[in-house]
Amino acid sequence: MGSEKVIEEKKQGQALLTANKEGNYKKLFIESYGCQMNLNDTEIVASILSDEGYNTTHLLEEADLVLVNTCSIREKAEQTVRKRLEKYNAVKKINPTMKVGVLGCMAERLKAKFLEEEKIVDLVVGPDAYRDLPNLLEEVNAGHDAVNVILSKEETYGDVSPVRLNTNGVSAFVSITRGCDNMCTFCVVPFTRGRERSRDPKSILEEIKELVDKNYKEVTLLGQNVDSYLWYGGGLKKDFKNASEIAKATAVDFSQLLDLAATEFPKTRFRFSTSNPQDMSLDVIHTMAKHENICKYIHLPVQSGSTTVLERMNRQHTREEYMELIDNIRKILPECALSQDMIAGFCGETEEEHQETLSLMEYVKYDFGFMFAYSERPGTPAAKKMPDDVTQADKKRRLNEIIQLQQSHGLYRMEQFIGKTVEVLIEGSSKKSDLHWKGRNSQNAVVIFPKGTEQIGDFVNVLVENCTSATLLGKRV
Ligand code: SAH
Ligand code: F3S
Repeated sequence: MGSEKVIEEKKQGQALLTANKEGNYKKLFIESYGCQMNLNDTEIVASILSDEGYNTTHLLEEADLVLVNTCSIREKAEQTVRKRLEKYNAVKKINPTMKVGVLGCMAERLKAKFLEEEKIVDLVVGPDAYRDLPNLLEEVNAGHDAVNVILSKEETYGDVSPVRLNTNGVSAFVSITRGCDNMCTFCVVPFTRGRERSRDPKSILEEIKELVDKNYKEVTLLGQNVDSYLWYGGGLKKDFKNASEIAKATAVDFSQLLDLAATEFPKTRFRFSTSNPQDMSLDVIHTMAKHENICKYIHLPVQSGSTTVLERMNRQHTREEYMELIDNIRKILPECALSQDMIAGFCGETEEEHQETLSLMEYVKYDFGFMFAYSERPGTPAAKKMPDDVTQADKKRRLNEIIQLQQSHGLYRMEQFIGKTVEVLIEGSSKKSDLHWKGRNSQNAVVIFPKGTEQIGDFVNVLVENCTSATLLGKRV
């Protein structure tokens, strides 16, 4: 279960600390679970509340307000949040005036039911309603419960400058789209984060400029489906067909956005996540090839290697189409690293279908992977229409087979770097040794090497001498 454990650890929430704003006297304890988008949203919430007199604290016991940004993607993610609520309950006994709010996907999914189910909760706010927090808090401070879970067709928080929390000062996330229109049958995201909409490229470039001015060196553009990015003046992606001719002619798609960002900030490294096979165009791959400062790494979730499973998942592409995309990436970007998300044991998955997942993995030999056992989510098309009929034992065994295979491929990919020199952006000290730096190369592999006179945020060349299945070890040249 190696890889899944790593992901679960990575996705654990943590109290986030930031610089205080002078004059603010109220204390906010805010933590974030789930994906990078949630972390970015948490930074947006901290920014909105900073204007309302709140500074963040890492001490739960002294908080006036506790906010937890939640994840619904798998049942386990929700259980983790429920456990945190128990902890807040215990703390409330010594800090009785503390208020507790739930943000994010669980808030959206459970809505006012949260107030009934969890007595500790005073406030429930969905992902598109954070601007309403000041009003909602007024209600809460007047002694009433407050709920806003209205999803929006427009909200992108484009004008809110996120407060960077627990930052290394080197890499930051910038959201470019919100929501998802893809309706994969297993996925709760379209229900919790609403319809897909893109953010004005002007505000994206302004946010990147702010980061560059503050000396950030790497920006990851974030969206549930970045390849689907389309700005034509605002509004839902699905309404683009009705847009005016002028709007259509001046629209900006993802490859153009990447090109704009990489051209305007040639010294900044760009990454993006997540790519969706059905929406990824060759233009994006060509734009990656054109700019050295766009990292050669694509997270390209596939979920299954079987066309029949992909069909049940409503993934809109076949195994063969996915392989063709991989072939194109390899042709245009021979140095590009690839990673996957896989779901083991989706509804009706047969042993043969599972074998097709393993054989697709053999074909691609992914550098990294994020692998999960299928977890039925209430309200999704799969939960409504398809029995969750693969036994726990089979799910677990298949997941383990996928993880084992991924580990061997990860090692294979890392070994290919031995003897080569890679450019590394230094992010901080190695977790295991204060005498070593940790950074990543363009392909997103973690690189560890002995410290010299260089500093965090420097780009340095490292000769790779050794590796594990997920880390490169070397020395500066
Ligand atoms: N496009 C999104 C996907 C979010 S969900 C993104 O930005 O990454 C992340 C991953 O969780 C999915 O790719 C899928 O592999 C996994 N996942 C989603 N729903 C799941 C479920 N019901 N059970 C198990 N894994 C799931
Ligand atoms: Fe979920 Fe599929 Fe969108 S996995 S986030 S519905 S692309």
